Amino acid sequence: MTRPVRTAIFPVAGLGTRFLPATKATPKELLPVLDTPLIQYAIDEARGKDDIAEELKEAALHPGVDDVVFTLQKKPKGLGHAVLCAKDYVLDGAVAVILPDDLILGAPCLSEMVAAYDGGHMVATMAVEDDEVSKYGILDVISQEGRVTRARSMVEKPTPENAPSRMAVIGRYVLDHDIFDALSTQKPGAGGEIQLTDAIAREAATRPITGFGFSGTRFDCGSKAGMLEATLHLSAQDPELAPVLNAYASATLSQRSAA
Ligand code: G1P
Repeated sequence: MTRPVRTAIFPVAGLGTRFLPATKATPKELLPVLDTPLIQYAIDEARGKDDIAEELKEAALHPGVDDVVFTLQKKPKGLGHAVLCAKDYVLDGAVAVILPDDLILGAPCLSEMVAAYDGGHMVATMAVEDDEVSKYGILDVISQEGRVTRARSMVEKPTPENAPSRMAVIGRYVLDHDIFDALSTQKPGAGGEIQLTDAIAREAATRPITGFGFSGTRFDCGSKAGMLEATLHLSAQDPELAPVLNAYASATLSQRSAA
């Protein structure tokens, strides 16, 4: 059997404008949720105790050591361009892409996807509200069965009127290696950027597009609201922090009812 995924790409060149002034000094992916930076959650997800950890270990150029390569995206030309910047460093076979802004807790999304991957381009998906579709890549759905959505195409950040469905792409991808061919000739799309969504869509005739409904809980840590929700979620599960959260909530509620 060929190993399906030997390389994981973490695009982290976003400007982080929603987190200014913090991101003047600290890159967005180093912002912590509680005590752990976003990039660490992403790396742990790719290297967890699961199958993919073994895959990545076996794939290492130096046995026992996972190789980490950094490459610079010199201009902010979009996610597709950022992924293309990794082209010369990826091993053969399918590649994983993890966007650390999309924090997924509770279950290892990438491992679930790798286990379900059967070729083509696979993206994590989740249903979103109408007023949210313009923030995401949206699947043009053919069929949905259990966790698996088959799609004929994808559109980057459509208006609600033009959105082909409400199934949004969340930042986990398992991509056929030839995505790099598509990316190398990809023209700018939404926002004037080279979009990964467009490159995936262009290959739809030869590389099936599959959406995967992951079982964890996803937080949009590219926004302050998402960072707050993730912090509250983890605090509520922490034996030391849960009482602090409960005390704060009770005090706030009683202040409100007294007002
Ligand atoms: C990127 C992708 C988009 C995807 C989203 C998930 O957009 O371009 O297709 O739905 O991540 O978070 P961004 O959030 O970088 O604008």
